Amino acid sequence: MAAVGENPSLWEQDKRQLHPLHHPSQSDNPTIVERADGVWLYTTDGRKILDAMAGLWNVNVGYGRSELAQAAQAQMEKLAYTSNFAGMTNLPSSELAYKLSAYAYPSLKTTFFTSGGSESNDTAFKTARYFWKRQGQADKVKIISRRDSYHGITLATTSATSIPRYHKMFGPLMPNFVYTHAPNPSRYAGTIQENEAVGAAAARDLEETILREGPQTVAALIAEPVQGVGGVIVPPDDYFPQVRAICDRYDVLLIADEVICGFGRTGEMFALNRYGVEPDILSFAKGVTSGYLPLGGIQISDRILEAMNSASVEDAWLHGYTYSGHATACAVGLRNLAILEKEKLAEQSARMGARLRAGLAGLSEFSAVGDVRGLGLLCAVELVKDRETKEPDAALALTVQNAAAARGVRIRALEGSLAFSPPLIISEDEVDQIVETIGAVLDSIE
Ligand SMILES: Cc1ncc(COP(=O)(O)O)c(C=O)c1O
Repeated sequence: MAAVGENPSLWEQDKRQLHPLHHPSQSDNPTIVERADGVWLYTTDGRKILDAMAGLWNVNVGYGRSELAQAAQAQMEKLAYTSNFAGMTNLPSSELAYKLSAYAYPSLKTTFFTSGGSESNDTAFKTARYFWKRQGQADKVKIISRRDSYHGITLATTSATSIPRYHKMFGPLMPNFVYTHAPNPSRYAGTIQENEAVGAAAARDLEETILREGPQTVAALIAEPVQGVGGVIVPPDDYFPQVRAICDRYDVLLIADEVICGFGRTGEMFALNRYGVEPDILSFAKGVTSGYLPLGGIQISDRILEAMNSASVEDAWLHGYTYSGHATACAVGLRNLAILEKEKLAEQSARMGARLRAGLAGLSEFSAVGDVRGLGLLCAVELVKDRETKEPDAALALTVQNAAAARGVRIRALEGSLAFSPPLIISEDEVDQIVETIGAVLDSIE
């Protein structure tokens, strides 16, 4: 293939597509990735880039897995797609639903498939409302989410997302979405009482939010176990057990948004297991196919299933997407799970994550490094203007992101933090290359 410089029409062609999170100033001559293998991306202009973001936190088994291509080909040759609406099904979606039954959490046995995380969370919100209507509590419609959360990009999931820049040009947001404080250990934004720890303060804020809104109006809390896009916020260990107890006290469903965290990313197959907590609804996507094909879904507890099964036909759970239970996507999902299990990639994520964090912690000699945190291969380095005030340095984070890209390492600046979320198959040497590159970039800047 001709190099891009000799064939500018490639960029001209690309100008006809609107990119996600688009601004025209960023779309001039984008990097064109032609192929990828393991953790490495290869561009049309001959560069090799270590993808320390695994695409968008999702290519868990790494790039270039021929087993997944073969699974897709074999399924497409038999049956690429069929409607999965009531009255018809296909083998891979049944098999994957069966495989996933009680896979993440013992009490979640039933799956509904979507094509991605936003659809999963939208589905979760509708399902929570449906459940309460079926209990005769039709006023329970509000969805509580935490500040700095990201739950997707449809209008409802944008409304649950609590990062202001995603709201600014799309308001008004949907009514009945309410926010509580994030359990952010390094910069908790709510009030902390004397001798109160951050986990307890954030749990108390949730309880106060429910009471202020009226428990009889609250359907669910949605929470990412580790908040990803909001800056890789790892909650204190005592937070989720308290959240679970509060949700139970006020009849509020707990929706775990494990779109990033699921399938090994945090060093556990599913992240709430670390805290001994089970949600009522699980949202998943990304890692279920490692991004090889679009797939997501929700899993529900038996009491939610029972509410659906015992409804009259008029009150049926009338929800579904054209691509729910897509045969080829599910076949790839099944094969992807087999790889995750066979290669013990959740354990690998825990091991390599510890190595990455230890390496990044070694960069604390640079005065701009304010915090290093993470779980498994979901990590962040927070850059600050001043360690005392902890004021985040978003401009510096962007500079480091771009300088790292110029040196062949792809990371993502999220406000003042640098996020790291490489494929779970990353080797020790590759982890060390990430750390060395960030160190060299910080050194050149300081
Ligand atoms: C926690 C979380 N939930 C939901 C989504 C939305 O997923 P999708 O982009 O597949 O719609 C994302 C996307 O990054 C996410 O990080």
